[in-house]
Amino acid sequence: TSARYENILVDSPKPGVGLITLNRPRALNALSSALFAELNNALTEFDHDSTTGAIVLTGSEKAFAAGADIKEMKDLTFSDVTNINFIASWSSTIPHIRKPIIAAVNGHAHGGGCELALMADILYCSSSASFSQPEIKLGIIPGAGGSQRLTNIVGKSRAMDLILTGRSFSGVEAERWGVAARCFESAEECVNGAVDTAGKMAGMSRVAVRAAKEVVNKSQDLGLREGVEYERKTFHGLFGSKDQKIGTLLALTWPYTQAD
Ligand code: HXC
Repeated sequence: TSARYENILVDSPKPGVGLITLNRPRALNALSSALFAELNNALTEFDHDSTTGAIVLTGSEKAFAAGADIKEMKDLTFSDVTNINFIASWSSTIPHIRKPIIAAVNGHAHGGGCELALMADILYCSSSASFSQPEIKLGIIPGAGGSQRLTNIVGKSRAMDLILTGRSFSGVEAERWGVAARCFESAEECVNGAVDTAGKMAGMSRVAVRAAKEVVNKSQDLGLREGVEYERKTFHGLFGSKDQKIGTLLALTWPYTQAD
């Protein structure tokens, strides 16, 4: 179905896994409106496809994405950006995707590219990855959640240091600071690692994975007391699923916890 797209490739590298590869190599995967529309479309299709359990989003070895498309932005005025609600499409779909999204980040991930990676549920990278929020150098600021998501992860002081200077940080630093869950030695290992993890998630109870993603995300919005209550209600709800009946029975009869 990649044939329908000009800026992305879609594939299923193993059962249950949807793979979206950003594919605008001549622009280092700069995130144009056209690319984002295709990305939203592909994510929605994988979310609705019953054979897909988890989604991997990656770019090339050279670039995950070098940012929002500067050529598209450069002539826009204040009234243009407000009238077209510029980059609203960046948050129209991704927050509503219910299946796990793993970003596998290699090479450049700057500006909007860094923000897109931060929108994923899990971020894997390789040591060659280079992240930044360089908007300050363009006379703007992050516009797709970077000032919020990055700050929540790395803390205020480090976020100010990065966002007010635009300096880059490496994949190794990303892992050290908790931006990335894992940092691999090569781009290939990074993508394979993400596909493996997505495959594992796709093999779990779909209803439980959906609930787990939902409750972890709630922790970003709710206070602790409300979050824990929300978790318990959701936990109670899972006792209505067949997967809970089968899963707990298996746990009693099969030492699955030892197998990874
Ligand atoms: C449009 C881009 C681009 C971008 C690179 N290109 N980044 N086009 N938008 N963000 C294009 C270049 O113009 C060039 O096209 C081609 O990709 C290859 O880029 P080079 O610069 O020749 O490659 P290289 O020397 O390897 O340098 C890589 C780089 C550099 C360090 C990543 O390209 C770079 O600094 N890019 C801009 C990064 C950036 O500032 N991003 C933030 C954008 S602002 P041609 O046609 O000349 O060959 C942003 C705002 C987000 O993201 C806020 C809301 C979402």
